Amino acid sequence: MPRPNYNGFKRTLHPLLCRFLSAKKNPPPSFHPPRGTHDTFHATNRKRRHLERLLQTTIEKHGVSEIKTPTFDHRSLFDRALGATTDVVSKEMYSLDHTDPPLVLRPEGTASVARALLHQGTATQPHLWPCKVWYSGSFYRRERPQKGRYRQFDQFGVELVGCGTWMDDVECIMMGHDVLQRLGLAPYVELRLNSLGDQESRTRYKETLTEWLRPYMDELSDTSQTRIRNGDVLRVLDSKRPEDRQVMARDDRPLMSHSWNAASKDHFEKVVGMLREVGVMVDGGEEVEGEGEGGKGLLASNPMTMVHDEALVRGLDYYCHTAFEFVVKESGGKQNKKNKKKKKSVLGRQQGTVLAGGRYDQLYSVLSGGKHDVPAVGWALGMDRIALMLEELEEDTAESLWPLAPVKIAVLPVGDKGAMVCGGGGGGSGGVPAAVLSTALRIGHGLRNCGEGDDWDVLTNNDVGRLKQQMKFANREACEVVVLVGEDELDQGGCVSVKNMATSEQVQVEVGQVVEVVRKMVSRSGGRARW
Ligand code: HAM
Repeated sequence: MPRPNYNGFKRTLHPLLCRFLSAKKNPPPSFHPPRGTHDTFHATNRKRRHLERLLQTTIEKHGVSEIKTPTFDHRSLFDRALGATTDVVSKEMYSLDHTDPPLVLRPEGTASVARALLHQGTATQPHLWPCKVWYSGSFYRRERPQKGRYRQFDQFGVELVGCGTWMDDVECIMMGHDVLQRLGLAPYVELRLNSLGDQESRTRYKETLTEWLRPYMDELSDTSQTRIRNGDVLRVLDSKRPEDRQVMARDDRPLMSHSWNAASKDHFEKVVGMLREVGVMVDGGEEVEGEGEGGKGLLASNPMTMVHDEALVRGLDYYCHTAFEFVVKESGGKQNKKNKKKKKSVLGRQQGTVLAGGRYDQLYSVLSGGKHDVPAVGWALGMDRIALMLEELEEDTAESLWPLAPVKIAVLPVGDKGAMVCGGGGGGSGGVPAAVLSTALRIGHGLRNCGEGDDWDVLTNNDVGRLKQQMKFANREACEVVVLVGEDELDQGGCVSVKNMATSEQVQVEVGQVVEVVRKMVSRSGGRARW
């Protein structure tokens, strides 16, 4: 039997098969950012910069100075500071390969700040206290991503180190309120507050709660059972699992406040008392009017709602006494102007915490092996969640935090004559007389440096084309004023055209008058857009 001839098949299919197999072995890079991260572009970045500047200036008014720590740090630092059994340490840290000692991408800032201040000696010299610092940057946790929860996220944090009085807790909380108020978000969040008490009270409560949970062990989630076995019983309190919530909703659940000793009770009552003194709050549904002159005045226009949340424990081990979170109110607190319907917040219940922190008096002692006892209190704000809230607020109420966008002005060399038009694509500027190009450069330079500072963005497009192409560019960039530099006009008395894009008014002016004419056109154009 004649053998079949596969030559044609081989010739056509073989190269395709080879390409397929090699693509499988060596896949091209994906253009998606890694899960839980995102790329951000100019408009977003500009808003972020503005947001960060607002936070910095607000906090620096409290005499707080900036600190920067590395984005990766020793694994042992976080193991010790946050607790080896916490979710963050046991599951969520990103380790860097082959490093000795082991390093991880920082999951939070408090431990790194403590390490830095201990290293620098600030925290060890009482005469340098109080030391109040703020930081801002990216942090990393391998969490299940969803809206408002990312694997790379930005925090702005404040740490008041060497600050051991209950009044420091109040100051710290008021700083948090201050920044939220400055951002226009204060009416949409409430302060949830609890006290984890001191070591003695906490140990007593852990024992009481573990004992109480014993009969319900089988009804709890596996995670909670493991946590109890690891001595981390407090985390059962803030578990979101329905089976855990059902057990914890029982009326006879022991309350943390019942285990406070006298010192812990006194600390908490003084914090709450002073917070009431300075504002009007709704505490557990009951409205409490602030007493005292200063009190009513301070927060009267922006009342803060406070709830004593007995189940608030925070997920990191270093806290004692006051723990707090600013949480988006259930309804999102906002009304949609158009349909007047109360809207749920963009942030789900679990991602509703926009700023959180508390007191941590043992951290410096734990990190220094008992050598330095430095009380501290602080918080961190989630920038990504704040940005989402601001976006929603802007959509619903048209209130905007963002300043007016700079005016865009384009200075465009034009090659009208066929001979001068350079060839599109990667054509560059060949063929256009040097005089046109250099005049455009000089006008651009003059406009950027004429003293209008941040208010003007001066664009150019060097892929010189015909007038139509350049106007297309100006429209795409939403330029308000366009300066057209063409050879003919330059030849006839050194002139260029200045065009107001909104009114189509176009005037021919000498090069030396361009700045003045543009300034007049901009001032007449009125209503600038916001970012
Ligand atoms: P934290 O509660 O883990 O506390 O984080 C503080 C805030 O950072 C959260 O309330 C949230 O707004 C934001 N955040 C946390 N994880 C994510 C995430 N995966 N995606 C987006 N945003 C997130 C701390 O980090 C403590 N160091 C705070 C502190 C400072 N305590 C004392 N001083």
